[in-house]
Formats: sequence, C-alpha cells, structure tokens
Amino acid sequence: MNYKNILIFLSVLISVVLSQPSNLYLYTTTPQGYWKITRINISTGTITNSTTSLIANNYIFTQFLEVNSDGDFVMLGLSEHQNDFCTYTISPAGNYVDSSSSTKVLKTGTFIMCDSSIAYDNARNSVYFAADLLTREIIFVYDFETPSSYMVKLSVPVNTSPTGAFDGHDTYYLLESLNDGINNFTLYSYNFETKTESNPLNLFNFPKNSTAFLFYANDHLYAATFNNSAPDQLSLVNIDVTTGDCNTAYTFYETGMPYSMNYWTYSNYFVLMTQTDGKYFLTTLNLNDNTYTTTQIYGNFPQNPIMAAIY
Ligand SMILES: *[C@@H]1O[C@H](CO)[C@@H](O)[C@H](O)[C@H]1NC(C)=O
Ligand SMILES: *[C@@H]1O[C@H](CO)[C@@H](O)[C@H](O)[C@H]1NC(C)=O
Ligand SMILES: *[C@@H]1O[C@H](CO)[C@@H](O)[C@H](O)[C@H]1NC(C)=O
Ligand SMILES: *[C@@H]1O[C@H](CO)[C@@H](O)[C@H](O)[C@H]1NC(C)=O
Ligand SMILES: *[C@@H]1O[C@H](CO)[C@@H](O)[C@H](O)[C@H]1NC(C)=O
Repeated sequence: MNYKNILIFLSVLISVVLSQPSNLYLYTTTPQGYWKITRINISTGTITNSTTSLIANNYIFTQFLEVNSDGDFVMLGLSEHQNDFCTYTISPAGNYVDSSSSTKVLKTGTFIMCDSSIAYDNARNSVYFAADLLTREIIFVYDFETPSSYMVKLSVPVNTSPTGAFDGHDTYYLLESLNDGINNFTLYSYNFETKTESNPLNLFNFPKNSTAFLFYANDHLYAATFNNSAPDQLSLVNIDVTTGDCNTAYTFYETGMPYSMNYWTYSNYFVLMTQTDGKYFLTTLNLNDNTYTTTQIYGNFPQNPIMAAIY
C-alpha cells in the first residue's frame, strides 16, 4: 500500500471504529465550588451525578471543544485572572489531564459573539468564533500554538446573529441572510491555509423564514433551522458547499423546545433533547441513513448546564 492508500485505509478504519455516543455529559458547579458532571446514559436514560476534584474558580471552563484521540475532553477555558484563554484537557470522569499555553482574550465589549459558532481546529491548535463588528462579521482566532490572538475581518454583512462552523481541515463557514434577515441565505467562507475569503455562495432551497445555525458533522456542512412560524420544528439542512444546493435531510416536527440549542454531534450521530408533557427524551439520529432511537430520560438533571458534550 502506498502512503495515500494507507491514509484512506486508516480513515475508513477510524470511521468504522467511532461508534454511537454513549453518554450526554452536563457540567455544572456544586455549592462548594467544584465541577460536577451529570451523565445521562443515552441508551437507557439513566442519570449518574459525580463531583470532580476540580475547583471551579481555578478551572474556568467556558465551552466544550472536542473529544480528542485519547478519548479525553478538550475545553476552552479562562486563566485564573480571566484575561487569557487556554484549553484544558480533562478525562470523561473529570480528572485534569493537561492545559495549553494561554493567549489574551480580545476585548469583546463591542462585539456580539455566538457560542454555537465556536470551533476547535485540532491541527492548528486554534479556536475560532464568528462575531459581529459593527457592519461586518469577523472571525476571532485564539492560536494556542504560537500563542497569539487576532481577528480575521471579512466582507460578510451583519443581518442575523453570527453563525459559523469549521470543516475540520482548513475552511470556516459563515451563514448570513441578506435583505430581510430570514429569507435569502448566503454562505461565506474563509480558508486558513490560503488565508483568503471565497466569493459568497447564494443558497438554493434553503427553508424560508427560519432561524439557522451552522454545524459541521459527518464530513458535511449542515444548518439546524428553526421554523419561525413553528419554532419547535427543527430541520437539518444539508448544504452543498460547491453548488449552494440545499436539501432538508431530516425534520423533527415537535421538539417541545422552541429554538432550543440542546443538540450535539459526534461522528455521524446527531443527538437532540426533546420534551413532551414535562418528560424529556434524547433522540439519536444516524446522519448516514436517518435511522434513530429515542430514549426517555429518567430523573432530574440540570436544565441550564454551563457546558454539555456527548461521547
Ligand atoms: C448505559 O447503560 C447500559 C445498560 O445498563 C450499559 O450497558 C452501558 O454500559 C451504560 N453506558 C455507560 C457509558 O455507562
Ligand atoms: C439574495 O442574495 C443574493 C446574494 O447572495 C443576491 O444576488 C440576490 O439578488 C438576493 N435575492 C433576493 C430575492 O433578494
Ligand atoms: C413552517 O411552519 C408553518 C406552520 O406550521 C408551515 O406552514 C410551513 O410549511 C413550515 N415551513 C417549513 C419550511 O417547513
Ligand atoms: C415569519 O414568520 C413569522 C411567524 O409566523 C411571521 O410573523 C412573519 O411575518 C414571517 N415573515 C416573513 C417574511 O415571512
Ligand atoms: C443529580 O443531580 C440533580 C441536581 O442537579 C438532582 O436533581 C438529581 O436528583 C441527581 N440525580 C441522581 C441520580 O443523583
């Protein structure tokens, strides 16, 4: 096998090995000031709480970034003085593994940022967020390798809240709706390898009158779109980044949770929390074939965790 074939073989092997996520992890803090992990078993809906030995004031986690190749969780966090960002790696059980170099937090007072646009570029050891700067969108870059913090200014106009997603290789995508902010969606992108912005791509067959958030999963760019006339209807829209053609891959008609961002992806799985008559459920959708399983969650769990992850 030549080098290229070995890479293809390895990536096939990896995609076979990555299995369905087992647990939803919700992070909160205890009254004593420690991080607490609530694990919901996705196949049984049972809940286990555990208090970690991590003191919340020393480890200020702000966002889950990824499960790394060792099966540990990489979190975006603030340094103790809160002037710098760094990444913290912790085990699924909540033990400290290590942390990255830190780099200064860009002053965010005049920006609007959207948490769902935060993405980790594992190869460049960098975190990207989309944000609005007056009339144009920007990407904040926190590079923990150099380390350095900077902004990439783009030509993207500001109509809706910034939403972005990273393809895991070189490209960060941003979505905007021109004119009225809900009906004419356009895709923008920036390539971190060539350091160039591409021409805007007008999207076809994108659901009208929706509130949309990009995500990247299973080697595809998707938008999670909430129907503004029925905001507990959530569609997953597959975006062809070359042609701009969109197709609705799956629709959840009654999530019981309007505009809820309680969804997560891992490998080719999309996990969504839904609610009916005060009961909560987790639906795991296989993005390859739209098969799914739904499990009721048994017991109480924190409704507004600081971070959440599936693995
Ligand atoms: C989830 O529950 C099932 C059934 O009890 C069990 O086999 C499995 O090990 C649990 N998963 C985790 C990750 O604890
Ligand atoms: C939608 O936006 C595109 C730019 O991406 C523009 O060329 C087009 O005229 C707009 N269409 C409408 C109906 O406003
Ligand atoms: C949005 O919801 C309205 C009201 O239920 C429905 O008529 C419309 O078809 C929905 N839009 C899409 C794109 O599904
Ligand atoms: C979008 O949907 C909302 C809620 O149904 C409605 O009030 C609004 O008029 C719609 N806007 C457009 C441009 O269709
Ligand atoms: C887990 O903690 C929550 C509070 O966040 C509590 O309501 C629930 O009863 C606990 N569950 C178990 C199984 O200990």
